[in-house]
Amino acid sequence: MKSIEKAMALHARRSQGPSPEPAQEEPPAETAMVEPQVSEPLVTEAAPLVRATDLAKTFDVSAPWLNRVLERQPRLLLRAVDGVSFDIARGETLALVGESGCGKSTVARLLVGLYEPTRGGFEFYGQDAHAAFKTPQGRHLRRRIQMIFQDPYASLNPRWIVEDIIAEPLREHAIETDPEALHARVDDLLRSVGLSPQDRVKYPHQFSGGQRQRISIARALATQPEFLVCDEPTSALDVSVQAQVLNIMKDLQRERGLTYLFISHNLAVVRHVSDQVGVMYLGRLVELAPKHSLFDSPRHPYTRMLLDAIPKMHDTGRARTPVSGEVPNPLNPPAGCAFNPRCPHANDRCRKERPVLQSIGGVRVACHAVQEDRI
Ligand SMILES: Nc1ncnc2c1ncn2[C@@H]1O[C@H](COP(=O)(O)OP(=O)(O)O)[C@@H](O)[C@H]1O
Ligand code: SF4
Ligand SMILES: [Mg+2]
Repeated sequence: MKSIEKAMALHARRSQGPSPEPAQEEPPAETAMVEPQVSEPLVTEAAPLVRATDLAKTFDVSAPWLNRVLERQPRLLLRAVDGVSFDIARGETLALVGESGCGKSTVARLLVGLYEPTRGGFEFYGQDAHAAFKTPQGRHLRRRIQMIFQDPYASLNPRWIVEDIIAEPLREHAIETDPEALHARVDDLLRSVGLSPQDRVKYPHQFSGGQRQRISIARALATQPEFLVCDEPTSALDVSVQAQVLNIMKDLQRERGLTYLFISHNLAVVRHVSDQVGVMYLGRLVELAPKHSLFDSPRHPYTRMLLDAIPKMHDTGRARTPVSGEVPNPLNPPAGCAFNPRCPHANDRCRKERPVLQSIGGVRVACHAVQEDRI
C-alpha cells in the first residue's frame, strides 16, 4: 500500500524533470495544448456538477418463466444499488469504495446512461440526465460524460490502429470531419496522455497495460467531456504503472477542470486521488465524508474495517475493530442493518431497523451506534 504512494510521488517528481522512466513505459511527453472547455452555465457556480438522488437499480435474476411456473419458484430481484445520493462539485473527485459486489460498477453504469435507474436519478448541471439521455440532446450529454473501464484491452478494438480508436468518438459525434484536423486532434490527445504521435499507427497489442490505459483515457477525452466515470481504471496495472496513470489523470483534471467519479477497492489509491469518499455496502452508502475525515476519523464500523485491513496507512492509536465474515448474499440481505452479521457493535435495534444516512459532525453516516453516540 505504501509503495504506490511512494511510486506516485516518485513519478510526479520524474515527470517534472528529464530523468528516464521505467523501461516498461514510455516517458510522458510534454503536455499538449488543451482546448478550452465548453460549459453551459445552466446553474450557479456553487451547484454541484453531478447530483445523484436516491439512485436505485434492481436486476430481475429470476429463472426463466416456464421453470418458475413448473418449479414454483418465486421471482428473484437483486437490489444492486438501493437509494444512493451524493453530490460532486465541478473539478472534484468522489471515490466510491467497498468490497466486490456492493454496487460500485452499477452506479458507474447508471451515471453514463448504460443502465436506466429503477428509482431515483441524477442531475448533470441541474438537469435530469436520464430524461435527457432519451431526447435528441442526449447525444450531446453523452459526449460530456465519458467512462474509463478497468480492462483497457477489453475496451479497445484489437483490430483497429490507435488513430482510429481515438478518432472514433470524434467521427461518431461529428466533432471533427476534416482529415487534417482530425489527425492533429489525435496527436494532441496522444501527447496529453504522455504517448507519442508516432504511436498513432500501432495496434493495442503493441503497447503495455499502462500505455493501453492511456489510450483509453485519450479516447475518453476526445469528446472534451466534463465528467469522467472511472471504474477501477488502474486495478489491472502493476504498482509503478498505476502511479503513472493516476498522476496523468490528476494532471488532466487540473488542466481541464475535469470532475471524476473514481471507483477503486484500493484505499491507497483513493487517498491519493479523492476529495470525498463514499463507502458502499450491499448497494447503499454507509458513509460519505471528505477524504481527510474518512481517513483520519472513520465513523462507520465497515469503514473502520476497511481501513484496519491496511494497518500502516492510518495510525490513530484507536483500538482496532476486529471484523470478519463475508458480504451477505444480495438476494437475501440481512434484516435491519445489512452489516449487522459482521459488526461487533450490533444490537437488537441493528437487527431490526435499517439505519439511514444522517449528517453527524460534517460527515454522513448510516449507523445506529454512531447516531446513538455508542461508538
Ligand atoms: N447485469 C446484471 N444482472 C444481474 N445482476 C447484476 C448485474 N450487474 C451487477 N449485478 C449484481 O449486482 C451486484 C452489484 O454488482 P456491481 O455493481 O458489479 O458491484 P461492484 O462493482 O461493487 O463489484 C452484484 O451482486 C452483482 O452480481
Ligand atoms: S447500525 Fe448497528 S450493525 Fe450496523 S454498523 Fe452500526 S452498529 Fe453495526
Ligand atoms: Mg465493479
